[in-house]
Amino acid sequence: MKKRVGIEALAVAVPRRYVDIEDLARARGVDPAKFTAGLGAKEMAVNDPGEDSVSLAATAAARLIQQQGVDTSKLGMLVVGTETGVDHSKPIASHVHGLLKLPRAMRTFDSQHACYGGTAGLMAAVEWIASGAGAGRSALVVCTDIARYGLKTAGEPTQGGGAVALLVSETPDLLAVDVGLNGVSTADVYDFWRPVGRREALVDGHYSITCYLDAMAGAYRGWRERALEQGLVRWDSKLPSEQLARILYHVPFCKMARKAHAQVRLCDLEDSGNGPATPEARDEAAKSQPSYDAQVAKSLGLNARVGNVYTASLYLALAGQLHAEGAALAGQRIGLLSYGSGSCAEFFSGIVGEKAAERMARADLDTVLAKRERVSVEEYERLMNLPYDAPEAIAPEPGTFRLAEIHEFRRKYAGA
Ligand code: CAA
Repeated sequence: MKKRVGIEALAVAVPRRYVDIEDLARARGVDPAKFTAGLGAKEMAVNDPGEDSVSLAATAAARLIQQQGVDTSKLGMLVVGTETGVDHSKPIASHVHGLLKLPRAMRTFDSQHACYGGTAGLMAAVEWIASGAGAGRSALVVCTDIARYGLKTAGEPTQGGGAVALLVSETPDLLAVDVGLNGVSTADVYDFWRPVGRREALVDGHYSITCYLDAMAGAYRGWRERALEQGLVRWDSKLPSEQLARILYHVPFCKMARKAHAQVRLCDLEDSGNGPATPEARDEAAKSQPSYDAQVAKSLGLNARVGNVYTASLYLALAGQLHAEGAALAGQRIGLLSYGSGSCAEFFSGIVGEKAAERMARADLDTVLAKRERVSVEEYERLMNLPYDAPEAIAPEPGTFRLAEIHEFRRKYAGA
Protein backbone atom coordinates (compact mmCIF):
# COMPACT_ATOMS: atom_id res chain seq x y z
CA MET A 1 0.00 0.00 0.00
CA LYS A 2 1.20 3.54 -0.80
CA LYS A 3 2.33 5.48 2.27
CA ARG A 4 -0.01 8.20 3.53
CA VAL A 5 2.04 11.37 3.93
CA GLY A 6 1.07 14.93 4.64
CA ILE A 7 0.43 17.59 7.23
CA GLU A 8 -0.17 16.25 10.73
CA ALA A 9 -0.63 19.57 12.54
CA LEU A 10 0.08 23.29 12.25
CA ALA A 11 0.65 26.38 14.37
CA VAL A 12 0.47 30.09 13.57
CA ALA A 13 2.49 33.05 14.88
CA VAL A 14 1.67 36.67 14.06
CA PRO A 15 3.15 40.02 15.11
CA ARG A 16 1.60 41.38 18.29
CA ARG A 17 0.23 44.52 16.64
CA TYR A 18 -2.09 45.26 13.74
CA VAL A 19 -3.60 48.27 12.04
CA ASP A 20 -7.23 48.47 10.97
CA ILE A 21 -7.35 48.70 7.18
CA GLU A 22 -10.07 51.38 7.18
CA ASP A 23 -7.88 53.56 9.44
CA LEU A 24 -5.07 53.18 6.92
CA ALA A 25 -7.36 54.05 4.00
CA ARG A 26 -8.61 57.21 5.73
CA ALA A 27 -5.05 58.27 6.59
CA ARG A 28 -4.11 57.90 2.93
CA GLY A 29 -7.18 59.78 1.69
CA VAL A 30 -8.53 56.65 -0.02
CA ASP A 31 -12.17 55.45 0.01
CA PRO A 32 -12.06 52.61 2.65
CA ALA A 33 -14.19 50.49 0.28
CA LYS A 34 -11.20 50.23 -2.06
CA PHE A 35 -9.21 48.37 0.63
CA THR A 36 -12.16 46.39 2.06
CA ALA A 37 -14.35 45.52 -0.96
CA GLY A 38 -11.65 46.19 -3.61
CA LEU A 39 -8.80 44.21 -1.97
CA GLY A 40 -10.76 42.17 0.59
CA ALA A 41 -8.73 43.33 3.61
CA LYS A 42 -9.87 43.98 7.19
CA GLU A 43 -6.70 44.28 9.28
CA MET A 44 -2.98 44.24 8.56
CA ALA A 45 -0.26 42.79 10.80
CA VAL A 46 2.44 45.28 11.78
CA ASN A 47 5.80 44.01 13.04
CA ASP A 48 8.56 45.85 14.85
CA PRO A 49 12.26 45.02 14.30
CA GLY A 50 12.20 42.61 17.27
CA GLU A 51 9.67 40.48 15.37
CA ASP A 52 11.74 39.40 12.37
CA SER A 53 11.35 36.33 10.16
CA VAL A 54 13.50 34.28 12.57
CA SER A 55 11.57 35.13 15.73
CA LEU A 56 8.21 34.54 14.04
CA ALA A 57 9.41 31.18 12.63
CA ALA A 58 10.82 30.06 15.99
CA THR A 59 7.65 31.15 17.79
CA ALA A 60 5.41 29.22 15.36
CA ALA A 61 7.61 26.11 15.57
CA ALA A 62 7.84 26.22 19.38
CA ARG A 63 4.06 26.66 19.57
CA LEU A 64 3.52 23.65 17.29
CA ILE A 65 5.77 21.46 19.43
CA GLN A 66 4.14 22.59 22.66
CA GLN A 67 0.49 22.56 21.47
CA GLN A 68 0.70 19.19 19.75
CA GLY A 69 3.14 17.42 22.08
CA VAL A 70 5.63 16.77 19.25
CA ASP A 71 8.43 14.31 20.13
CA THR A 72 11.39 16.25 18.73
CA SER A 73 13.65 13.18 18.78
CA LYS A 74 11.54 11.85 15.86
CA LEU A 75 12.29 14.91 13.66
CA GLY A 76 14.77 14.38 10.81
CA MET A 77 14.33 17.52 8.69
CA LEU A 78 13.69 21.23 9.23
CA VAL A 79 12.99 23.42 6.20
CA VAL A 80 12.21 27.13 6.41
CA GLY A 81 10.47 28.67 3.41
CA THR A 82 11.08 32.43 3.28
CA GLU A 83 11.74 35.33 0.96
CA THR A 84 12.68 37.69 3.79
CA GLY A 85 15.82 35.98 5.01
CA VAL A 86 18.15 37.84 7.39
CA ASP A 87 21.54 36.64 6.13
CA HIS A 88 22.92 35.67 2.73
CA SER A 89 24.52 32.54 4.13
CA LYS A 90 23.28 31.46 7.56
CA PRO A 91 19.77 30.04 7.12
CA ILE A 92 16.82 30.89 9.34
CA ALA A 93 16.51 27.12 9.81
CA SER A 94 19.79 27.08 11.79
CA HIS A 95 18.48 29.80 14.14
CA VAL A 96 15.21 27.91 14.65
CA HIS A 97 17.11 24.67 15.20
CA GLY A 98 19.24 26.31 17.90
CA LEU A 99 16.46 28.24 19.62
CA LEU A 100 14.32 25.09 19.85
CA LYS A 101 17.28 22.87 20.87
CA LEU A 102 16.40 20.33 18.20
CA PRO A 103 18.42 17.12 17.67
CA ARG A 104 21.80 17.38 15.87
CA ALA A 105 20.96 14.54 13.46
CA MET A 106 18.69 16.67 11.28
CA ARG A 107 18.85 18.07 7.77
CA THR A 108 18.22 21.85 8.00
CA PHE A 109 17.99 24.41 5.20
CA ASP A 110 16.06 27.42 3.89
CA SER A 111 14.09 27.27 0.66
CA GLN A 112 13.68 30.42 -1.45
CA HIS A 113 11.54 31.18 -4.46
CA ALA A 114 9.47 34.23 -3.47
CA CYS A 115 6.11 33.10 -2.01
CA TYR A 116 6.60 29.59 -3.44
CA GLY A 117 9.55 28.75 -1.11
CA GLY A 118 7.30 27.24 1.57
CA THR A 119 5.59 24.89 -0.86
CA ALA A 120 8.97 23.86 -2.30
CA GLY A 121 9.98 23.00 1.29
CA LEU A 122 6.74 21.15 1.96
CA MET A 123 7.15 19.05 -1.18
CA ALA A 124 10.79 18.25 -0.28
CA ALA A 125 9.57 17.01 3.10
CA VAL A 126 6.57 15.09 1.72
CA GLU A 127 8.66 13.36 -0.96
CA TRP A 128 11.49 12.61 1.54
CA ILE A 129 8.98 10.80 3.73
CA ALA A 130 7.07 9.15 0.86
CA SER A 131 10.31 7.82 -0.68
CA GLY A 132 11.15 6.02 2.55
CA ALA A 133 14.36 8.07 2.98
CA GLY A 134 12.94 9.57 6.17
CA ALA A 135 12.80 6.07 7.71
CA GLY A 136 9.72 6.91 9.77
CA ARG A 137 10.95 10.32 10.91
CA SER A 138 8.89 13.52 10.61
CA ALA A 139 9.76 16.93 9.19
CA LEU A 140 9.14 20.47 10.37
CA VAL A 141 8.38 22.96 7.59
CA VAL A 142 8.12 26.60 8.65
CA CYS A 143 6.91 29.34 6.31
CA THR A 144 7.85 32.79 7.62
CA ASP A 145 7.83 36.25 6.08
CA ILE A 146 7.31 39.96 6.53
CA ALA A 147 5.58 41.55 3.55
CA ARG A 148 6.87 45.11 3.26
CA TYR A 149 6.41 47.53 0.37
CA GLY A 150 6.81 50.82 2.23
CA LEU A 151 4.70 53.75 3.36
CA LYS A 152 2.34 55.35 0.83
CA THR A 153 3.06 52.83 -1.93
CA ALA A 154 0.36 51.02 -3.97
CA GLY A 155 1.38 47.81 -2.21
CA GLU A 156 1.05 49.33 1.28
CA PRO A 157 -2.45 47.91 2.06
CA THR A 158 -1.21 44.44 1.00
CA GLN A 159 1.57 44.19 3.61
CA GLY A 160 1.52 41.86 6.64
CA GLY A 161 3.67 39.28 8.38
CA GLY A 162 3.71 36.04 10.32
CA ALA A 163 4.67 32.38 10.22
CA VAL A 164 2.96 29.02 9.88
CA ALA A 165 4.72 25.88 11.13
CA LEU A 166 3.72 22.53 9.63
CA LEU A 167 4.46 19.07 11.03
CA VAL A 168 4.82 16.67 8.08
CA SER A 169 4.61 12.96 8.75
CA GLU A 170 3.06 9.58 7.99
CA THR A 171 0.12 10.55 10.24
CA PRO A 172 -1.52 13.27 8.13
CA ASP A 173 -4.30 14.24 10.53
CA LEU A 174 -4.85 17.57 8.72
CA LEU A 175 -4.15 16.77 5.07
CA ALA A 176 -2.95 13.59 3.32
CA VAL A 177 -1.19 14.95 0.21
CA ASP A 178 -1.89 13.27 -3.16
CA VAL A 179 1.81 12.55 -3.74
CA GLY A 180 2.89 12.97 -7.36
CA LEU A 181 -0.34 14.61 -8.51
CA ASN A 182 1.22 18.09 -8.57
CA GLY A 183 0.98 20.42 -11.57
CA VAL A 184 3.70 23.07 -11.92
CA SER A 185 4.44 26.06 -14.15
CA THR A 186 7.58 28.24 -14.24
CA ALA A 187 8.38 31.46 -16.14
CA ASP A 188 11.28 33.94 -15.95
CA VAL A 189 9.44 37.21 -15.16
CA TYR A 190 10.07 40.42 -13.18
CA ASP A 191 6.71 40.83 -11.48
CA PHE A 192 7.89 41.17 -7.86
CA TRP A 193 11.46 41.15 -6.58
CA ARG A 194 13.66 42.44 -3.75
CA PRO A 195 17.23 43.23 -4.80
CA VAL A 196 19.99 42.37 -2.33
CA GLY A 197 20.32 45.11 0.31
CA ARG A 198 16.74 46.40 0.03
CA ARG A 199 14.22 46.06 2.86
CA GLU A 200 11.23 46.87 0.67
CA ALA A 201 10.06 44.68 -2.20
CA LEU A 202 9.72 46.11 -5.69
CA VAL A 203 6.62 45.13 -7.58
CA ASP A 204 4.93 45.71 -10.92
CA GLY A 205 1.53 45.31 -9.23
CA HIS A 206 -0.93 44.80 -12.08
CA TYR A 207 1.57 42.77 -14.11
CA SER A 208 2.13 40.55 -11.03
CA ILE A 209 -1.57 39.69 -11.03
CA THR A 210 -1.38 38.70 -14.71
CA CYS A 211 1.73 36.58 -14.02
CA TYR A 212 0.01 34.84 -11.09
CA LEU A 213 -3.07 33.99 -13.20
CA ASP A 214 -0.99 32.83 -16.15
CA ALA A 215 1.24 30.56 -14.02
CA MET A 216 -1.65 29.11 -12.08
CA ALA A 217 -3.52 28.18 -15.26
CA GLY A 218 -0.54 26.02 -16.30
CA ALA A 219 -0.21 24.49 -12.84
CA TYR A 220 -3.92 23.74 -12.55
CA ARG A 221 -4.09 22.14 -16.01
CA GLY A 222 -1.06 19.97 -15.10
CA TRP A 223 -2.75 18.77 -11.90
CA ARG A 224 -6.07 18.21 -13.71
CA GLU A 225 -4.43 16.06 -16.39
CA ARG A 226 -3.03 13.70 -13.74
CA ALA A 227 -6.23 13.75 -11.67
CA LEU A 228 -8.28 12.83 -14.79
CA GLU A 229 -5.84 10.00 -15.64
CA GLN A 230 -6.23 8.60 -12.11
CA GLY A 231 -10.02 8.97 -12.17
CA LEU A 232 -10.05 11.40 -9.23
CA VAL A 233 -12.06 13.94 -11.27
CA ARG A 234 -14.08 13.54 -14.48
CA TRP A 235 -15.54 15.62 -17.28
CA ASP A 236 -19.07 15.51 -15.98
CA SER A 237 -22.08 17.72 -15.36
CA LYS A 238 -19.80 19.24 -12.70
CA LEU A 239 -16.52 20.82 -13.85
CA PRO A 240 -13.36 19.01 -12.60
CA SER A 241 -12.56 21.96 -10.29
CA GLU A 242 -16.09 21.74 -8.84
CA GLN A 243 -15.33 18.16 -7.79
CA LEU A 244 -12.86 19.50 -5.20
CA ALA A 245 -14.63 20.29 -1.93
CA ARG A 246 -12.60 23.50 -1.47
CA ILE A 247 -9.77 25.24 -3.29
CA LEU A 248 -7.21 27.29 -1.34
CA TYR A 249 -5.05 29.88 -3.05
CA HIS A 250 -1.93 31.93 -2.43
CA VAL A 251 -3.45 35.09 -0.93
CA PRO A 252 -1.35 38.26 -1.39
CA PHE A 253 -4.66 40.05 -0.73
CA CYS A 254 -8.03 38.36 -0.36
CA LYS A 255 -9.54 39.59 -3.63
CA MET A 256 -6.75 37.71 -5.44
CA ALA A 257 -8.29 34.39 -4.33
CA ARG A 258 -11.51 35.39 -6.10
CA LYS A 259 -9.60 36.23 -9.29
CA ALA A 260 -7.64 32.96 -9.02
CA HIS A 261 -10.78 30.91 -8.56
CA ALA A 262 -12.35 32.47 -11.66
CA GLN A 263 -9.17 31.56 -13.57
CA VAL A 264 -9.35 27.90 -12.49
CA ARG A 265 -12.98 27.77 -13.60
CA LEU A 266 -12.10 29.46 -16.88
CA CYS A 267 -9.51 26.75 -17.59
CA ASP A 268 -12.25 24.12 -17.15
CA LEU A 269 -14.85 26.08 -19.13
CA GLU A 270 -12.41 26.63 -22.03
CA ASP A 271 -11.30 22.99 -22.10
CA SER A 272 -14.61 21.23 -21.45
CA GLY A 273 -15.75 21.13 -25.09
CA ASN A 274 -19.37 21.83 -24.20
CA GLY A 275 -19.17 24.97 -22.05
CA PRO A 276 -20.61 28.42 -22.90
CA ALA A 277 -20.02 29.23 -26.57
CA THR A 278 -18.64 32.78 -26.38
CA PRO A 279 -15.63 34.15 -24.43
CA GLU A 280 -17.98 36.65 -22.71
CA ALA A 281 -20.33 33.88 -21.54
CA ARG A 282 -17.35 31.81 -20.31
CA ASP A 283 -15.96 34.80 -18.37
CA GLU A 284 -19.34 35.32 -16.76
CA ALA A 285 -19.68 31.63 -15.79
CA ALA A 286 -16.08 31.63 -14.46
CA LYS A 287 -16.94 34.41 -11.99
CA SER A 288 -19.80 32.39 -10.44
CA GLN A 289 -20.59 33.82 -6.99
CA PRO A 290 -22.13 30.54 -5.66
CA SER A 291 -18.99 28.63 -6.62
CA TYR A 292 -16.74 31.21 -4.91
CA ASP A 293 -18.95 31.20 -1.80
CA ALA A 294 -19.00 27.39 -1.59
CA GLN A 295 -15.38 26.61 -2.49
CA VAL A 296 -13.23 29.57 -1.43
CA ALA A 297 -14.78 32.24 0.82
CA LYS A 298 -14.44 30.42 4.16
CA SER A 299 -10.68 29.98 3.74
CA LEU A 300 -9.98 33.71 3.95
CA GLY A 301 -10.92 34.52 7.56
CA LEU A 302 -7.33 34.68 8.83
CA ASN A 303 -5.78 36.19 5.69
CA ALA A 304 -8.22 39.12 5.85
CA ARG A 305 -7.01 39.89 9.39
CA VAL A 306 -3.27 39.37 8.92
CA GLY A 307 -2.54 40.51 5.35
CA ASN A 308 0.09 39.06 3.06
CA VAL A 309 2.47 36.56 4.65
CA TYR A 310 4.21 35.63 1.37
CA THR A 311 5.33 31.95 1.79
CA ALA A 312 2.89 31.39 4.65
CA SER A 313 -0.19 32.88 3.02
CA LEU A 314 -1.44 29.64 1.39
CA TYR A 315 -0.93 27.83 4.71
CA LEU A 316 -2.72 30.59 6.59
CA ALA A 317 -5.62 29.93 4.20
CA LEU A 318 -5.36 26.21 5.02
CA ALA A 319 -5.41 27.08 8.74
CA GLY A 320 -8.41 29.38 8.22
CA GLN A 321 -10.26 26.75 6.20
CA LEU A 322 -9.72 23.92 8.66
CA HIS A 323 -10.41 26.22 11.59
CA ALA A 324 -13.77 27.08 10.02
CA GLU A 325 -14.76 23.68 8.63
CA GLY A 326 -12.31 21.00 9.76
CA ALA A 327 -14.99 18.55 10.90
CA ALA A 328 -17.27 19.05 7.88
CA LEU A 329 -14.42 18.50 5.42
CA ALA A 330 -13.07 15.26 6.95
CA GLY A 331 -12.49 12.68 4.22
CA GLN A 332 -12.95 15.19 1.38
CA ARG A 333 -10.41 16.21 -1.28
CA ILE A 334 -9.32 19.86 -1.47
CA GLY A 335 -7.03 21.67 -3.93
CA LEU A 336 -4.19 24.07 -3.07
CA LEU A 337 -2.48 26.59 -5.33
CA SER A 338 0.89 28.09 -4.46
CA TYR A 339 2.39 31.01 -6.41
CA GLY A 340 5.81 32.62 -6.11
CA SER A 341 6.76 35.61 -8.20
CA GLY A 342 9.62 35.28 -10.57
CA SER A 343 7.82 32.78 -11.07
CA CYS A 344 6.68 29.29 -10.09
CA ALA A 345 3.15 28.02 -9.43
CA GLU A 346 2.19 24.61 -8.10
CA PHE A 347 -1.28 23.08 -7.79
CA PHE A 348 -1.66 20.05 -5.54
CA SER A 349 -4.40 18.31 -3.62
CA GLY A 350 -5.04 16.19 -0.58
CA ILE A 351 -7.66 14.59 1.64
CA VAL A 352 -8.63 16.30 4.88
CA GLY A 353 -8.00 14.01 7.88
CA GLU A 354 -10.59 12.69 10.31
CA LYS A 355 -8.82 14.41 13.21
CA ALA A 356 -8.51 17.81 11.51
CA ALA A 357 -10.95 19.58 13.83
CA GLU A 358 -9.29 18.15 16.95
CA ARG A 359 -5.82 19.17 15.74
CA MET A 360 -7.04 22.67 14.82
CA ALA A 361 -8.68 23.15 18.23
CA ARG A 362 -5.24 22.66 19.79
CA ALA A 363 -3.81 25.38 17.51
CA ASP A 364 -6.08 27.84 19.37
CA LEU A 365 -6.17 30.36 16.52
CA ASP A 366 -8.85 32.58 18.05
CA THR A 367 -6.56 33.29 21.02
CA VAL A 368 -3.53 33.87 18.76
CA LEU A 369 -5.41 36.65 16.94
CA ALA A 370 -7.33 38.00 19.94
CA LYS A 371 -4.09 38.70 21.85
CA ARG A 372 -3.00 41.31 19.31
CA GLU A 373 -3.10 45.04 19.95
CA ARG A 374 -4.69 47.47 17.48
CA VAL A 375 -2.40 50.44 16.81
CA SER A 376 -3.00 53.81 15.19
CA VAL A 377 -1.64 54.68 11.76
CA GLU A 378 0.86 57.04 13.49
CA GLU A 379 2.21 54.15 15.59
CA TYR A 380 2.34 51.89 12.52
CA GLU A 381 4.38 54.55 10.70
CA ARG A 382 6.71 54.91 13.69
CA LEU A 383 7.30 51.15 13.74
CA MET A 384 7.90 51.06 9.98
CA ASN A 385 10.54 53.80 10.33
CA LEU A 386 12.55 52.05 13.07
CA PRO A 387 15.98 50.80 11.95
CA TYR A 388 15.95 47.05 11.33
CA ASP A 389 19.09 46.46 13.42
CA ALA A 390 18.07 48.23 16.65
CA PRO A 391 15.09 46.36 18.14
CA GLU A 392 13.32 48.07 21.00
CA ALA A 393 13.96 46.43 24.39
CA ILE A 394 10.58 44.74 24.90
CA ALA A 395 10.29 41.55 26.96
CA PRO A 396 9.00 38.69 24.78
CA GLU A 397 5.52 37.43 25.59
CA PRO A 398 5.66 33.97 27.24
CA GLY A 399 6.12 31.29 24.59
CA THR A 400 7.47 33.70 21.95
CA PHE A 401 10.89 34.78 20.70
CA ARG A 402 12.21 38.28 19.89
CA LEU A 403 15.34 39.60 18.27
CA ALA A 404 17.22 41.15 21.22
CA GLU A 405 20.25 42.67 19.45
CA ILE A 406 22.58 42.48 16.51
CA HIS A 407 26.20 42.61 17.63
CA GLU A 408 29.02 42.42 15.06
CA PHE A 409 26.43 41.14 12.53
CA ARG A 410 25.43 38.27 14.84
CA ARG A 411 21.78 38.12 15.81
CA LYS A 412 20.80 37.30 19.37
CA TYR A 413 17.30 36.18 20.33
CA ALA A 414 15.50 36.14 23.65
CA GLY A 415 12.42 34.34 24.85
CA ALA A 416 10.29 31.18 24.88
N1 CAA B 1 -14.76 50.72 -3.86
C1 CAA B 1 -14.68 49.38 -4.14
N2 CAA B 1 -13.69 48.86 -4.93
C2 CAA B 1 -12.75 49.69 -5.39
C3 CAA B 1 -12.78 51.09 -5.13
C4 CAA B 1 -13.85 51.59 -4.32
N3 CAA B 1 -13.93 52.88 -4.01
N4 CAA B 1 -11.72 51.65 -5.75
C5 CAA B 1 -11.04 50.65 -6.36
N5 CAA B 1 -11.67 49.49 -6.16
C6 CAA B 1 -11.26 48.15 -6.62
C7 CAA B 1 -10.75 48.13 -8.04
O1 CAA B 1 -11.80 48.04 -8.98
C8 CAA B 1 -9.86 46.88 -8.00
O2 CAA B 1 -10.68 45.72 -8.08
P1 CAA B 1 -10.50 44.71 -9.34
O3 CAA B 1 -9.05 44.29 -9.35
O4 CAA B 1 -11.42 43.60 -9.03
O5 CAA B 1 -10.84 45.51 -10.56
C9 CAA B 1 -9.29 46.91 -6.61
O6 CAA B 1 -10.14 47.78 -5.83
C10 CAA B 1 -7.86 47.45 -6.53
O7 CAA B 1 -7.85 48.68 -7.18
P2 CAA B 1 -6.62 49.10 -8.12
O8 CAA B 1 -6.28 47.97 -9.03
O9 CAA B 1 -6.90 50.43 -8.70
O10 CAA B 1 -5.50 49.22 -6.98
P3 CAA B 1 -4.01 49.68 -7.08
O11 CAA B 1 -3.62 49.98 -8.48
O12 CAA B 1 -3.83 50.76 -6.09
O13 CAA B 1 -3.16 48.41 -6.59
C11 CAA B 1 -2.43 46.19 -6.28
C12 CAA B 1 -3.64 47.14 -6.31
C13 CAA B 1 -1.81 46.07 -7.68
C14 CAA B 1 -2.88 44.81 -5.82
C15 CAA B 1 -1.36 46.76 -5.28
O14 CAA B 1 -1.88 46.80 -3.99
C16 CAA B 1 -0.05 45.99 -5.26
O15 CAA B 1 0.84 46.25 -6.06
N6 CAA B 1 0.10 45.00 -4.33
C17 CAA B 1 1.30 44.19 -4.22
C18 CAA B 1 1.45 43.19 -5.35
C19 CAA B 1 0.56 41.98 -5.23
O16 CAA B 1 0.01 41.69 -4.19
N7 CAA B 1 0.45 41.22 -6.34
C20 CAA B 1 -0.34 40.02 -6.36
C21 CAA B 1 0.14 39.02 -7.37
S1 CAA B 1 1.89 38.64 -7.09
C22 CAA B 1 1.88 37.58 -5.76
O17 CAA B 1 0.89 37.02 -5.42
C23 CAA B 1 3.14 37.38 -5.00
C24 CAA B 1 3.04 38.15 -3.74
O18 CAA B 1 2.62 37.65 -2.72
C25 CAA B 1 3.42 39.57 -3.78
